[in-house]
Amino acid sequence: MSHIVETCDIVRVFKGHDKPVKALDKVSIYIDEGEIFGLLGPNGAGKTTLIKILTTLLLPTKGEAYVGGFSVSKEAHKVRQMISLVSGGETPGYGILSASENLWFFSQLYGLSSSSAKARIKQLMTDLEFDEYAKTRMSKLSTGYKQRLNLARGLLNNPKVLFLDEPTLGLDVLTSKKLRAYIVDWAKREKEGTVLLTTHYMAEADEMCDRVAIIDRGRILACDSPLRLKQKLEDNFIMKVEVSSVQADFSFVDDMKGVIGYSQTRSIQTDTTSFKVMLTEEKIFSKIMLKLKEQNLKILSANEVEPTLEDVYISLVGRGFEEGEKTTHET
Ligand SMILES: Nc1ncnc2c1ncn2[C@@H]1O[C@H](COP(=O)(O)OP(=O)(O)OP(=O)(O)O)[C@@H](O)[C@H]1O
Ligand SMILES: [Mg+2]
Repeated sequence: MSHIVETCDIVRVFKGHDKPVKALDKVSIYIDEGEIFGLLGPNGAGKTTLIKILTTLLLPTKGEAYVGGFSVSKEAHKVRQMISLVSGGETPGYGILSASENLWFFSQLYGLSSSSAKARIKQLMTDLEFDEYAKTRMSKLSTGYKQRLNLARGLLNNPKVLFLDEPTLGLDVLTSKKLRAYIVDWAKREKEGTVLLTTHYMAEADEMCDRVAIIDRGRILACDSPLRLKQKLEDNFIMKVEVSSVQADFSFVDDMKGVIGYSQTRSIQTDTTSFKVMLTEEKIFSKIMLKLKEQNLKILSANEVEPTLEDVYISLVGRGFEEGEKTTHET
């Protein structure tokens, strides 16, 4: 069986202000039927651009992509019949219509019969736990409930491939968890339900995806199961240090031999900086500790930690995703 999604050397160039921007640079990936596949990368990596090409909203500058064996550029109408796209932060339909009226409206666009539309809407509202808001105007729903409605809309037509662009963007921990569990469950239940999701939340990609492609500046840097990606780091040492100053600066490790990469996260609230560094040898860590002591920084904790997908990214790029103020996305 050939792959349900396949891209061959996709290049996408945008005009940009002063010079052209290469948003995708020879991207070749494949996804098998039934897989949950994640595209993980920082802001501006090219995730949305790739999803737009695969959902026929944007043409590639070069290369070709296929969904269900159909070319996204030449057979867009065939592709559209078998997919759905749900984007985080998107307004799901019309503000003056209620949640259930919006779903009804979309069910009619998809051409569902009246009886199957009613049953499907009822089921989705129960499964995604927004029965009690069925009659609430969409514009009055909270972000979390808008996103539930968004996902329900995307599932109305029982897509063969569900595309999710940052499905849990801006949602609280509990709602994110629920939606993630629901998506995994949907893919399993449908047996051949395939999901391509983009995210910049490492834990989300790790928890949900069968395989993950790490993308940075339009290029795929690695692609494998989360476990295998992490196993490649087994020979390295990853140390995490927390110091009691939000202004601590660890950039001195840039010039140190044996340092593969690092990331630092500052928390203004607690006036601390958390620093993670990947080393080829454990003994380099004592040199780092000496430097910290020279700076009179109080060390709150220092431990060796297990690799995460963030560390996979650090090993490839030499830096972390997010520097600066702590983002509060926990799982
Ligand atoms: N319509 C456009 N015109 C010009 N440049 C664009 C356009 N759309 C995207 N880009 C550029 O292409 C690059 C990739 O953008 P894209 O939106 O695909 O990234 P992303 O990985 O989805 O990022 P984010 O995590 O912020 O959503 C960026 O440099 C962006 O500025
Ligand atoms: Mg995006």
